[in-house]
Amino acid sequence: MAINSKNLSPILAAAVFALGMTMSAAQADGGKYGGENRGKPLQPAQVNAKWQQECSSCHIAYAPGLMSADSWRKVMEGLDKHFGTDASLTSEENKEITDFLVKNASNRWSASTAPLKITEAAWFKSEHDAREVPPAVWQNPLVKSPATCQACHTQAERGDFSERNIKLPK
Ligand code: HEC
Ligand code: HEC
Repeated sequence: MAINSKNLSPILAAAVFALGMTMSAAQADGGKYGGENRGKPLQPAQVNAKWQQECSSCHIAYAPGLMSADSWRKVMEGLDKHFGTDASLTSEENKEITDFLVKNASNRWSASTAPLKITEAAWFKSEHDAREVPPAVWQNPLVKSPATCQACHTQAERGDFSERNIKLPK
């Protein structure tokens, strides 16, 4: 059978359709959770030294791409009353760190809210539901709080939360 435009068009249409499907699947995957942007790492290769130093003394320095710019501004405006502690900085340090966080914040935040906590975001709850994390794991003394990302994400300090680097504590 000769391929003429008459019987080629359904093939073309199918190919275009398949391509469209692939693209929308990739987009859906890329937007899977608000803190993620596959085109941009959660944490840039070059990090701000002050952020690294000041924001890692009580917990890991949380990757900027985990929250929206609005959330980071709120966190940085309230450091004197930071989750029951005083984490205030000089205004110069505060500005420098805020600039770093805002510049590298998630630019794909789909939720309309700007929670103060990464762990309060809808994407976080769905990624960490009972199917993904058996409830008993949260009781493990190595975990203590959902904010202890590094208890399960072995490369959390490098801003890497990929599935291959997850190891649930025993
Ligand atoms: C003096 C100690 C201290 C310092 C310094 C500190 N934090 Fe925190 N931070 C805390 C505590 C305590 C919590 C609550 C942790 C928990 O819920 O387990 C917290 C929680 C957070 C959370 C929410 C985590 C979640 O549950 O999703 C963010 C975001 C955060 N800190 C950002 C920062 C940033 C940015 C800096 C640097 C400017 C910083 N912190 C410096 C003590 C500190
Ligand atoms: C008790 C263990 C545990 C803790 C603590 C934890 N996570 Fe997770 N996280 C998981 C598991 C399990 C998954 C699901 C992986 C999957 O989809 O198969 C996950 C998924 C994720 C994903 C999606 C990864 C992907 O590529 O699909 C991100 C991002 C993430 N966690 C960030 C965080 C952050 C940020 C913190 C700390 C604020 C944190 N997690 C704390 C266990 C944990």
